[in-house]
Amino acid sequence: MKPTEQTKPRKILVTSALPYANGPIHLGHMLEHIQTDIWVRFQKLRGEQCTYVCADDAHGTAIMLKAEQLGCTSEELIAKVQQEHERDFAGFEIGYDNYYSTHSEENRALSSLVYERNKARGNIVAREITQLFDPEKKLFLADRFVKGTCPKCGAEDQYGDNCEKCSGTYAAAELKNPRSTISGAEPVLKANTQLFFDLPKYQDFLAQWTQSGSLQEGIANKLKEWLDAGLQQWDISREEPYFGFEIPGETGKYFYVWLDAPIGYMASFQNLCRRRDDLDFDDYWGKDSDAELYHFIGKDIINFHGLFWPAMLDGADFRTPTAIYSHGFVTVNGQKMSKSRGTFIKAETYLRHLSPEYLRYYFAAKLSSRIDDIDLNMEDFAQRVNSDLVNKVVNIASRTANFVKKLGGKLANTDAHPQLTGEFQAAAGTIAAHYEQREFSRAMRDIMALADKANQYIDEKAPWALMKQAGNEQDVLDCCSVGVNLFRLLTLYLKPVLPDLADKAERFLNIEPLQWQDHQQLLLGHEINKFKPMMQRIDRKQIEAMTADAKADAEAEAAAGKPKGPLGDDPIADQITFDDFAKIDMRVAKIVTASHVEGADKLIQLTLDLGGETRNVFAGIKSAYQPQDLEGRLTIMVANLAPRKMKFGLSEGMVMAAGPGGKDIFLLAPDSGAVPGMRVK
Ligand code: 2FM
Ligand code: ZN
Repeated sequence: MKPTEQTKPRKILVTSALPYANGPIHLGHMLEHIQTDIWVRFQKLRGEQCTYVCADDAHGTAIMLKAEQLGCTSEELIAKVQQEHERDFAGFEIGYDNYYSTHSEENRALSSLVYERNKARGNIVAREITQLFDPEKKLFLADRFVKGTCPKCGAEDQYGDNCEKCSGTYAAAELKNPRSTISGAEPVLKANTQLFFDLPKYQDFLAQWTQSGSLQEGIANKLKEWLDAGLQQWDISREEPYFGFEIPGETGKYFYVWLDAPIGYMASFQNLCRRRDDLDFDDYWGKDSDAELYHFIGKDIINFHGLFWPAMLDGADFRTPTAIYSHGFVTVNGQKMSKSRGTFIKAETYLRHLSPEYLRYYFAAKLSSRIDDIDLNMEDFAQRVNSDLVNKVVNIASRTANFVKKLGGKLANTDAHPQLTGEFQAAAGTIAAHYEQREFSRAMRDIMALADKANQYIDEKAPWALMKQAGNEQDVLDCCSVGVNLFRLLTLYLKPVLPDLADKAERFLNIEPLQWQDHQQLLLGHEINKFKPMMQRIDRKQIEAMTADAKADAEAEAAAGKPKGPLGDDPIADQITFDDFAKIDMRVAKIVTASHVEGADKLIQLTLDLGGETRNVFAGIKSAYQPQDLEGRLTIMVANLAPRKMKFGLSEGMVMAAGPGGKDIFLLAPDSGAVPGMRVK
């Protein structure tokens, strides 16, 4: 590790994967953003020029359909979701330098530039292909929007790319009885011309790049397998309707979301450069850049970042990433996150019950540079946070600070235990190396081992006992000053993980924000402030309440029949658009005759007068009315509902009555002044 204080700061640009703008942030996202944030905070603490950008991934069919379902525009949906995402990430203390959107002018311009440069190089080819097409929605269907019977094992209700039952893979067109998951219609095969990035041209380039040390070993091996199997051309275009950027020079064709998503990293940085004089876009993205570029991602999107992305960048004369850091998935209590078990936990739900620093610490204590999944075991989580942070680290200050305060409030002028403080100071190098290499669990282990030593020292000295006898004041001050100094060093080493704890500690210690090199000095003869509790223990009840909340979220979603989301949090019913609503023709109708329906428990047969025209309607209001009481009454009916054939005859409309049911179903008051045929607005 180079001594950073003597050399020019490194220029480092860091990204986390861009979350899709169609759903909430959950603890799976948080693992990655916490991992990245810790690494970035560490670099900044060391004085490097480190910049962290992210954005919402705002394009694609899924977002377009979700907006349609919610009755809003795609732009409205992504604006609302971005606000929620930013709120949740801020709640977890993720310190981006910029959080942007892929639906931005910078991204449009950069995506076009990357495309045009690749095109000029001959890297874009047009080719006719046949795809499944939804004839009702007039939409080409991605594999995930087609379901049918597995062609290999006959399992029903399988997606268009692989079978969950037999794990077989196949083309969507091979499914038996396929149907569009969007409209339910049977898809048809349709040919059209698509644009492809000619990835096979980059075979040699990628073979070299993927083995150049930019990837973790396991990932490099996986990519080698794919490279050995031979690369395919990559379809980068999508037909309208599509929410994204239109491809320059084409009509009705859009960039596939995965083309402009990683370019969103560049666009977010460019947007930041416009506000920051000390950052220059070309300096970081130009071919000869001496800046470092790191992408933190999940292991599931390595093909995009390890193959398409470097090839596309190279083809557009931009630099390639220094490294791609992949991580595994989050499991909860040893299992995949599950809505019904209450372990699919949204960031927002977590934050309603628990401090973000608990999770930051727990993830740090488990993270390494490997790609293993990380298990959030709730029992272990509570136990670990309480024992490490509250009982060990914060306890050092709470056991010593009050004595210093009692003895004048100033730390001793000399260091009473240079061997111990020296050991703490000397650990900075190893701990820094662990952070740098993303071996956070090792850093946490070393820090906690130091915390144990600090507590042992205080136990041995027992200042509370010394204080009982007059004449021991200096001894007590010396020992407690060592304790406070050890606490200061521990909070400095934990600062990338626990910025809020560090902030509270800095106030208590009455010092400027700590920098990494501050480990070289101790606080001597320095006045400190009164100690205030800095962290509460986790109560198991908080975890139970969070799990119950997560379960309730999932149940409400299930009851609403669709995922809960922006504008759609009301579990009453699926939303309809205003245009849908405007189609409903509601009229005042007079009940001319009403009679029992033989064999029906709930129905009454009504003849309704719409001001000249009569309709036969079956209404489920028998629990509240006797037929004879209804004759002559006024009600509101949906006059343009398509006639429905029922067991008892044709129903030509729908009576609208409100109420909880049973006896309480209300029609119009007889003296309402309404006239049959009158339109209801
Ligand atoms: O997998 C995902 O959630 C994507 N939205 C990640 C995009 S990362 C980058 F390429 F933009
Ligand atoms: Zn199967």
